[in-house]
Amino acid sequence: MQKIALYRKYRPEKFSEIYGQDHITRVLSNALKENMVSHAYLFSGPRGTGKTSVARILAKALNCESRTGSNACGKCKSCRAIKENATLDLIEIDAASNRGIDEIRDLREKIKFAPSESSYKIFIIDEVHMLTKEAFNALLKTLEEPPSHAFFILATTEINRVPTTIISRCQRHDFKRIKLKDIVTRLHFITEKEKIKTSDDALELIAEASEGGLRDALSILDQLSSTGLREISSKDIVEIIGLAPHKEVFGFIKSLISGNIKKTLKTVNRLAKSGFDLVIFTRAIQEEVSKIIIAKLVGIDEVEGTAEQLEDIAQISATVETSKLSALSRGLSELQKNFRSGIDPEFALSIFVIDTSESEGASTSQEIKSEKIEVPTKEVKKKDLPIKDKRTNGQWHHFLLEVKAKNNTLHAFLRVANPLFTDNDLCLNFPYKFHKEKLEESKNRIIVEDIVEKVYGKRYQVRCLLNENLGRGSLPQSSDEAVSILGGEVVVND
Ligand SMILES: Nc1ncnc2c1ncn2[C@@H]1O[C@H](COP(=O)(O)OP(=O)(O)O)[C@@H](O)[C@H]1O
Ligand SMILES: [Mg+2]
Ligand SMILES: [Zn+2]
Repeated sequence: MQKIALYRKYRPEKFSEIYGQDHITRVLSNALKENMVSHAYLFSGPRGTGKTSVARILAKALNCESRTGSNACGKCKSCRAIKENATLDLIEIDAASNRGIDEIRDLREKIKFAPSESSYKIFIIDEVHMLTKEAFNALLKTLEEPPSHAFFILATTEINRVPTTIISRCQRHDFKRIKLKDIVTRLHFITEKEKIKTSDDALELIAEASEGGLRDALSILDQLSSTGLREISSKDIVEIIGLAPHKEVFGFIKSLISGNIKKTLKTVNRLAKSGFDLVIFTRAIQEEVSKIIIAKLVGIDEVEGTAEQLEDIAQISATVETSKLSALSRGLSELQKNFRSGIDPEFALSIFVIDTSESEGASTSQEIKSEKIEVPTKEVKKKDLPIKDKRTNGQWHHFLLEVKAKNNTLHAFLRVANPLFTDNDLCLNFPYKFHKEKLEESKNRIIVEDIVEKVYGKRYQVRCLLNENLGRGSLPQSSDEAVSILGGEVVVND
């Protein structure tokens, strides 16, 4: 029997099972209790925050023959039909794959007919922003004068791409990213039910990586539990998701702030040697410094993070002056800009460490001379650089930053990929099926292709491969493999 994905298996069936969206479920429950339900809703918000789930719960409640309060009974003919996907009265349209006028015309045909077995005909249109202009116009006409037996629930991850004419016809609800602690609570519940052994640390890390989307959190959990590990530890997660480990990030920030230049440079050197992506590392540092500043100026309650993170953030924000933190933050932004120009990350980060510590008045140059600390120079680095593919120059980092700006989750997936450019293709080699499948979704693929074109000045077709033996950083092996699969040539860009 095929395993059901966790996020499907644990799709909420009642309003009370929806986490972190109380501001929405409260209003909808009340509307149902008082029979004051609107004929058109628009749900917006990041993916995996409950839009489809709430839409289905609402639909089920509307058509339930013996609803008590706001909850569908789950047993009547209509409830059963919805559960089994066997009703013509609940029509779900994925606008991402049905973008055109024909689909909306079809909808306008269907809507004329009274519901066949329930009280209402309910249309859920997902990713509604993907509709073409004509399709929007046709939909608008329907929304302007819907038959009384019709209800619409539109959902979108990109509200700014939905025409205001449509928005103004609907009652709008904005779904929020789900709080870290709510995600952990849900993960706790599910791991217990599924008898997955894990620790609180590990669950917090998953929650952190999912950036407020429960679907992603559950997919990560699924992925981890299918690796055959008997127990999921936070170390496994760091490896699989490619997060910068909290300990290293805060260790670095603390030694930098204390002006311990020797220790800080050694850390940079050690991380570089063990194959860490220093651009990701730097970004993690910047994120934490921003949180420290917020904690200092506004309060620790405004900051999200794991228990360990919050402890460190509280401690640093209590002891370090604001001016010092903001100088650090400016320096880090500058550093990220430098990365984009293609500078060697280890070199740039080392210089940053020296500059930061010098402005703090440490006797840097002397310290470096006497301690013989390895500071990589640009020239040496260049000479030593083996031939690498495009990933290793600044463009790939630049690319990742652009992706990050557009879509955080996609960025999290891409940073574990081994990329390889051939003449016309960008081949992404993923160690995990979950990541590969995400990138194969056409909307994600198009985002990647667009950004690659912007950064590299040429359009490459994205192809995804799965190489489960692939650890992070074992590029050469995968390159050969990818080349042989695609029949292309490695484009060296040095
Ligand atoms: N707010 C939430 N509360 C509980 N589970 C959720 C929530 N949001 C998402 N999930 C989980 O993720 C899965 C996908 O959620 P879904 O409602 O399809 O999200 P969206 O439509 O916003 O992308 C659900 O089946 C459920 O397991
Ligand atoms: Mg959805
Ligand atoms: Zn019912």
